[in-house]
Amino acid sequence: MNTDIHIAIVLGTRPEIIKLSPVIRECERRDLPYTLIHTGQHYSDELDSVFFDQLELPEPDYHLDVGSDSHGAQTGKMLAEIEQALLDVEPDVALVQGDTNSVLAGAIAASKLPVEIGHVEAGLRSFDREMPEETNRVVTDHVADYLFAPTDTSADNLRDEGFDESRIHVTGNTVVDAVHQHRTLATEKSTILDDLDLTPREYALLTAHRAENVDDRARFADLLNGVERISTELGVNIVYPIHPRARNRLDEFGLDVPSCIELIEPQDYLDFLDLEQAATVILTDSGGVQEEACILGVPCVTLRDSTERPETIDVGANRLVGIDPDAIRNGAVEMADVATDWENPFGDGNASKRILTALCQSPADDQQVIQ
Ligand code: UD1
Ligand code: UDP
Repeated sequence: MNTDIHIAIVLGTRPEIIKLSPVIRECERRDLPYTLIHTGQHYSDELDSVFFDQLELPEPDYHLDVGSDSHGAQTGKMLAEIEQALLDVEPDVALVQGDTNSVLAGAIAASKLPVEIGHVEAGLRSFDREMPEETNRVVTDHVADYLFAPTDTSADNLRDEGFDESRIHVTGNTVVDAVHQHRTLATEKSTILDDLDLTPREYALLTAHRAENVDDRARFADLLNGVERISTELGVNIVYPIHPRARNRLDEFGLDVPSCIELIEPQDYLDFLDLEQAATVILTDSGGVQEEACILGVPCVTLRDSTERPETIDVGANRLVGIDPDAIRNGAVEMADVATDWENPFGDGNASKRILTALCQSPADDQQVIQ
């Protein structure tokens, strides 16, 4: 076991902070040296510092303050800044998680340096190249040395693309580690249901922020219309912690939000987990929220035309409905009634342990992987 390995953890957005928090904790537990590089893609407190504070994560060693911009400009700035940080730190490996522009920039910067790359959540595919995230996933996988696939399905996607078996490690998804580490705390500490006067199972939770949904006026209007129909059909109100991208688009498009939808600020992790756990159904276009709904045993309806998380559908926890209003209503009515005893396909909550064990495995070590 090589315990001298130095890991640079590159992150930049809300889901990366949440899903890498168990990895950071595991580095601390093992006393492994690591450097935290924050691109600054997300910078508003409610998408960023609130998670560092609540999840008790250390301050980033490098904060690149890249901020928002077009894809090319944002990724380009990150690339230059991450390269500089990596040249300075000289880590053995750079670890990135997921499919954002921060991930793409971290992977490409490291690929031109003598730094290995680990991709957490490798092998996910929506097979929809219209989505910027799909490009980010594919390119990152193809330059990565360690492909940490959360499931056999994602590992098979990698095999189909010809990756050598030695690069693929099926670890489970670190989101399970994060949910296990926080769900009880959420029930004990969060007062969000009382604060919003919500009764468990008598509301639906909505998140929608994907560019393909909210940047298109007609699609965003259809989505809201479909959600309104759910409210009428199921007799529940809808709670919508709204991402700044979606909030900006609502204002810009001048869209009316139906009165059954309560817009609230983005929530911290414990409050959001509590809102998820007690919802009758979750409506979302988020990747991480599809996974968490499945892990928490809450039915999910995905407001997209494709998903890179087909495991959630295969186990019966999720339905893909697109944004047609009738399809949204019908999907939610069916899902609100399903048995919720499916098995979580994303692993046992030890993904971060497996990832660090694989990274620390020197060639001389026997294959001693946590099963
Ligand atoms: C990004 C990811 C997306 C991920 C999401 C997680 C890419 C291409 N997209 O989308 O895959 O699901 O993060 O939440 O990487 N803004 C703020 N405050 C912030 C950050 C953004 O107000 O802290 C606003 C800005 O107006 C910005 C817009 O949100 O232009 C979009 O931000 P950006 O980081 O480009 O993409 P996200 O929609 O957050
Ligand atoms: N999340 C949160 N507060 C919110 C909405 C989401 O803490 O108001 C968490 C959620 O629990 C999940 C992650 O953010 O872990 C998902 O991130 P997001 O939907 O922004 O991105 P995606 O997963 O689609 O890339």
